Amino acid sequence: MSKSAFTEEVGQRRTFGIISHPDAGKTTITEKLLLLGNAIQLAGTVKGKKTGRMATSDWMQMEQERGISITTSVMQFPYKGRMVNLLDTPGHEDFSEDTYRTLTAVDSVLMVIDGAKGVEDRTIKLMEVCRLRDTPIFTFINKMDREVRDHIEVMDEIETILKIKCAPVTWPIGMGKAFKGVYNLITDTIHVFTPGQGSVVPDDIQIQGLQSPEAAALLGAELVAELTDEIELVQGASHEFDLDEYRRGELTPVFFGTALANFGVREMLDYFVEWAPAPLPRETDARPVPPTEEKFSGFIFKIQANMDPKHRDRIAFMRICSGTYTKGMKMQHVRIGKDIRIADAVTFLAGDRSHVEEAVSGDIIGLHNHGTIQIGDTFTEGEALRFTGIPHFAPELFKRVRLKDPLKMKQLQKGLQQLSEEGATQLFMPLNNNDLILGAVGVLQFDVVQQRLRDEYKVECIYEPVSVHTARWVYCNDHKMLEDFKRKAAENLAIDGGGHLTYIAPTRVNLSLTQERWPDVQFSATREH
Ligand code: G4P
Repeated sequence: MSKSAFTEEVGQRRTFGIISHPDAGKTTITEKLLLLGNAIQLAGTVKGKKTGRMATSDWMQMEQERGISITTSVMQFPYKGRMVNLLDTPGHEDFSEDTYRTLTAVDSVLMVIDGAKGVEDRTIKLMEVCRLRDTPIFTFINKMDREVRDHIEVMDEIETILKIKCAPVTWPIGMGKAFKGVYNLITDTIHVFTPGQGSVVPDDIQIQGLQSPEAAALLGAELVAELTDEIELVQGASHEFDLDEYRRGELTPVFFGTALANFGVREMLDYFVEWAPAPLPRETDARPVPPTEEKFSGFIFKIQANMDPKHRDRIAFMRICSGTYTKGMKMQHVRIGKDIRIADAVTFLAGDRSHVEEAVSGDIIGLHNHGTIQIGDTFTEGEALRFTGIPHFAPELFKRVRLKDPLKMKQLQKGLQQLSEEGATQLFMPLNNNDLILGAVGVLQFDVVQQRLRDEYKVECIYEPVSVHTARWVYCNDHKMLEDFKRKAAENLAIDGGGHLTYIAPTRVNLSLTQERWPDVQFSATREH
């Protein structure tokens, strides 16, 4: 690829994730985006709670039973001259670490809000994560086919609770059974809603001008007058769209619609591919890496097992930060300082796995992982740099693992090691005994680990309570002091799944006393990979 062709390719990428509270409509809107991108032909074929071909493994069955979205998938589809990469994020709060790391791999975010519920807890938390990197945010207010809350009130809530300015681009005309479509405030166009097109690409019926005779004929003079007043009020109460403010994460363009009936999503997507940022530069420990740099680089943000139950494999998801991946290329695995040849990277075009011949900055590729790749690993064409900002969080819940069949220790260790590399759980091995302690951010993680150990490693395990209150990663520049600390505090020290020294504190008081006693030892609540 020539330099200019490469720069153009990169400029076409739009890599984003969807954040929302469970049940706001993330899965439904994902499906409609894929439909609009021609990645699927008929809605109802993507993973779902009741349907879906991905729901074949037991692991997915658990997701189904619980009605939550645990896994992250990556979907790529072309739209209006752009190449859209959609990274799915788990909605359940027990998987917030996973979501956090996925959000380090995107350039922007689509926030889906249930129009009847407004801003909910999970959205608040996810927004906090987006704030850390000032991620630009699009907003879609969903379920206009229902009786929802006052829209101005919901926008107010977004502004005050999420602390971001709202710039409505489309505005709903009616709601529930009387939902007629959306009005575009920028172009003065009415997009007319036709019910019954939820599973196909809907007709695109437009009327130019709210004051036009066609609008009066469609809506009636009374509704036009009402809408005119409402729009005036909305314009007074909100902000005008400003691309720079959006790109800085200070303002969000707002769109209304119904994902279920597939309306308003296209009107949003059309603007999304225009306004959302192309791949942005990424920070490393050495220098920022611009996406248009021709030398290849990328980092791993997610490892997932059993994407395909037939293969029982593990895939490491890599965000390409610069350059081009070409089939069979050699890249350096920086952490272990080895060159590896990658011949079989995969992508998830239309939810299907297919071999990638070529991929550029902003794209996500999946590498087959045979145990050498960890979350946070950097790959380059030789330069020894490391992408930063992909942390582990100190878990808040701990359990000791016990085997039902003591002869299966080896399988258990292997399983836990792999699951901890994936980030499904965190593993701590005390220096002083042979316990295996699991740490989690959310309680559901323990169930997932137990079930996966059973299904994938044929190990039955049980959990026991353990007196660990919190964990801190330990750092100290003074080697002698560290050795001294290791000796004196050995009973509360462990090695984590990544081989890092960790202080596992039985109580909060114990932690603060130890910190006071060892002022030159650093106790960190996060660890960079
Ligand atoms: P999530 O991924 O954010 O958790 O939400 P999901 O898309 O699964 O949607 C949650 C529920 O809300 C689903 O109903 C879905 O059909 C419904 N829904 C999504 N968008 C709209 C919309 O625009 N209008 C209306 N009226 N409903 C919408 P469910 O009954 O929980 O599941 P299902 O039986 O439809 O799978």
